[in-house]
Amino acid sequence: MATKRMTDLPGTTDRRIDALLTLLAENSTIVISGAKIAREIGATRQQVWGWVERLRALGVRVKGHPRTGYHIERVPDLLIPQMLSHRLYGTAFARRILHFFKIDSTNSVAMRLGESGEPHGTIVVAEEQTAGRGRAGRSWTSEKSVGIYSSILLRPPIPPAHAPLLTLVAGLAARDAAAEDLDAQPDVRWPNDLLVGGRKFCGILTEMHAEPDRIHHAVVGIGMNVNQTKMPSEIADSATSLRIETHRIHSRLELLIRLLRCLDRYYNQFLAEGATPILRRFAEVSTYFKGKHVRITTASESFTGMTAGLEPSGVLRVTRDDGHGIVPILSGDVAEAS
Ligand code: BTN
Repeated sequence: MATKRMTDLPGTTDRRIDALLTLLAENSTIVISGAKIAREIGATRQQVWGWVERLRALGVRVKGHPRTGYHIERVPDLLIPQMLSHRLYGTAFARRILHFFKIDSTNSVAMRLGESGEPHGTIVVAEEQTAGRGRAGRSWTSEKSVGIYSSILLRPPIPPAHAPLLTLVAGLAARDAAAEDLDAQPDVRWPNDLLVGGRKFCGILTEMHAEPDRIHHAVVGIGMNVNQTKMPSEIADSATSLRIETHRIHSRLELLIRLLRCLDRYYNQFLAEGATPILRRFAEVSTYFKGKHVRITTASESFTGMTAGLEPSGVLRVTRDDGHGIVPILSGDVAEAS
């Protein structure tokens, strides 16, 4: 099949804005002249001025003007590719990072990139999504610059039947990354919702294009509520953010770096050693693994039962309350039942 790489994707943040921010952030204690910035990032002084104004409009506190030079008052918590890629050196995710200030859905972009032949490890990240998608056709609230909205394009050499394990791998990586920022241990609700105090702060949408015997590409889309001070009223009972839980502001940049480093480690371990270490880790960190009374809601039915571990493929086993024995749950909603 002929494929076309989308090297200059419309709407991605200009690489030179990325370079400008990185330069200012790395020299945050000194004033740098407009001419020097222009030279270093390959732009005109006029362009630098225009971009500084744009960054200011986004809330980045840049002091100064073209004559005196610029300096940044506080390093902004933006998910800028250059800052990410330096810190992801040695992982599969350092090479191709696409950043958007605003996009409909990072998963939709990453799926299109997968079709057009972009490489394994490509990352799509946005400050804001206008049509963030959740599982089962739900939407994902994606307010500007307070959450992580990121999709990872993978080309795993595994059959589609093993895809549930990929979903677990992503959930474990997000769990380990968030655990360092929380005072309480986060729980993993099968397959990969992250909860703290019983409320969800991270969801993962895995989508893929597969043939019967191989996965063409998979996209793991991660949405994490980080610095929201309040959740929309319709989900406030069931959703939370790291900031709501800890009363502290968290660095989205540091979290995403940790998440991608953990993902790289779990993913490589999964390819090298298979499912066993992944299932073992899930059993260690999830109260949903075994002995949890749950309500399962699938497209066709809703029933209660007791969780009974995972199958080697990552599928959840549930002993039904209605006496119909142990059943595998391939997909559907899992909720704690009383
Ligand atoms: C869920 O329903 O729990 C999954 C939510 C997944 C949301 C993320 S945000 C980044 C990526 N882009 C999307 O449109 N969805 C995922």
